[in-house]
Amino acid sequence: MAKEKTILRALAGETQPVPPVWMMRQAGRYLPEYRATRAKAGDFLSLCYNPELAAEVTLQPIRRYGFDAAILFADILLVPQALGADLWFVTGEGPRLSTITTPDEMNALKPADAIHDHLAPIYETVRILKSELPKETTLMGFAGAPWTVATYMIAGRGTPDQGPAHALMAEDVATFEALLERITEATVEYLSMQIQAGAEVVKLFDSWAGSLKGDAFDKYALAPAHRIISELKSKHPDTPIIAFPREAGERYIGFAKATGADCVALDNSVSPEWAAENVQTDGCVQGNLASRHMVTGGQDLINETKRIVAAFKNGPHIFNLGHGITPDADPNNVHLMLEAIRG
Ligand code: CP3
Repeated sequence: MAKEKTILRALAGETQPVPPVWMMRQAGRYLPEYRATRAKAGDFLSLCYNPELAAEVTLQPIRRYGFDAAILFADILLVPQALGADLWFVTGEGPRLSTITTPDEMNALKPADAIHDHLAPIYETVRILKSELPKETTLMGFAGAPWTVATYMIAGRGTPDQGPAHALMAEDVATFEALLERITEATVEYLSMQIQAGAEVVKLFDSWAGSLKGDAFDKYALAPAHRIISELKSKHPDTPIIAFPREAGERYIGFAKATGADCVALDNSVSPEWAAENVQTDGCVQGNLASRHMVTGGQDLINETKRIVAAFKNGPHIFNLGHGITPDADPNNVHLMLEAIRG
């Protein structure tokens, strides 16, 4: 049966004259209506765990821009919290977590199937969205990939080079691998429940995949993605999966085939012409406009948007940014981008 939703058509391998479009972090601080709802919720985590308000901020960019996909409003760090880690956000700085670096700390985490009570509000957000989204809009769920989530759990915060996670890998590989395993199992549980609640596509964010090289990339980025995707496909064969091994560089080549992903999301460090030749040949790609154009706008934004559309026009493509839109972006620049794509 032909699929009606543009995102699902792209993910099924269809080349479309106008690519569907959404933006990473499309619900966020660059939007005044997001800031207002967040102020009502209190803080960021209270917003994530309030299904009515989380659904509201998910819908805001759909109303303003008519994107083809809505992405569930939540965070990749809710899974560590559900596994028993403490999590809080320091305004202007980012996330903080209690650290996992010893076998005892690892063993104190909850089993993967014990996360659902804690995450029940997220599944409720998905259910609300399912009933409130326009019929042409695809509902996307997501989770962090095990390596990226582990980098935050090991360091207790974001780090420029993921040094603490690399150190644990070198010094106590058994604890490191046990942690990755637990996150992998929890991610299958979590995404499976999002799909049961109504997510039509899920995306796996491996934001720090680029800091894994060679064998480590195979073991800790590719293999966990393959396992998560295989287990999800066995339970939910019809749900497409997007993998985002950010900054994978030449390792983008073959990543979809090796993991079973229906689409790979490209960051903006690879050129669209290179990716069309080397990655899109395997199927759908998503990306890859640099987020800074949403701040700077103007003719450069229009030219670069058109260049990306043209580079990917002969295959399945979902237009997106190469990473999340930033708080200093001008909401009007999103309209410029949409006009350059849709005409
Ligand atoms: O609109 C969407 O894209 C959906 C919601 C979403 C958020 N985070 C909301 C959020 C998604 C998909 C994420 C993913 C996420 N979270 C990633 C992977 C993608 C990426 O950006 O690389 C990572 C690494 C995180 C962890 C995280 N969450 C960090 C490091 C931070 C602090 C940095 C920042 O931008 O403030 C967050 C906070 C966060 N997650 C915000 C939002 C809207 C900002 C919180 C606020 O309102 O203050």
